[in-house]
Amino acid sequence: KNEIRIAIDGPAAAGKSTIAKLVAEKLGYTYIDTGAMYRALTYKAIGAGIDLDKAAEVEALLPGTEIVLKAGADGQTVWLDGRDVSAEIRTDPVTNGVSAVSAHAGVRTYMVDAQRRMAEEGGVVMDGRDIGTAVLPDAELKVFMTASVEERARRRHAENLRRGFDSSLEQLAGEIALRDKKDSEREVSPLVQAEDAVLLDTTSLSINEAADAILELVREKV
Ligand code: C5P
Repeated sequence: KNEIRIAIDGPAAAGKSTIAKLVAEKLGYTYIDTGAMYRALTYKAIGAGIDLDKAAEVEALLPGTEIVLKAGADGQTVWLDGRDVSAEIRTDPVTNGVSAVSAHAGVRTYMVDAQRRMAEEGGVVMDGRDIGTAVLPDAELKVFMTASVEERARRRHAENLRRGFDSSLEQLAGEIALRDKKDSEREVSPLVQAEDAVLLDTTSLSINEAADAILELVREKV
């Protein structure tokens, strides 16, 4: 069986995780949400009262930190030091703090090593910001997924409403744009399209259409 590695990168809220999950399900592959790992560390750092901009303090947490992604019946759960933090890592303080944490070189080395080990066997769909450029530069298929910032804010807003809390569309668009700016301008493996990545703009695509586009690309590879 030829089980490839699929790297999906792109800016915040472009639909990467929803579509990556669906593609993984259809292929019987493992979905790996690398953003969740940076979020878990950010959650821990906030809890420890650490200044997220201080590399040495954030990096000092790493040796005593265990982050595990578990595949469950209703999706992936994220465990930090033996505790399920799947809900906590999606809260605003974490979302707005994660770009500071993920910019530290020592944090990236640690996460990238762990992510490479997870992908060793192949048969993975991994989403993030630097999968095609840094984590799996030899991935058989690389997709760079984008959507207009307005459309991304609109989707996030709809998701919030579904989850039962209101949000401001304008504020969401501002937060998404700021996170993209930080992720794209950081020194270590910034968010950038890999040379050999296929650009997929999902602005006017449904979830199924975007997943089908990727599955078509997979068919050309295997
Ligand atoms: O994908 P998600 O929005 O959950 O990612 C959260 C944050 O984690 C990103 O904004 C980015 O700062 C960081 N990240 C990263 N590299 C990855 C995945 C996520 O720097 N491979």
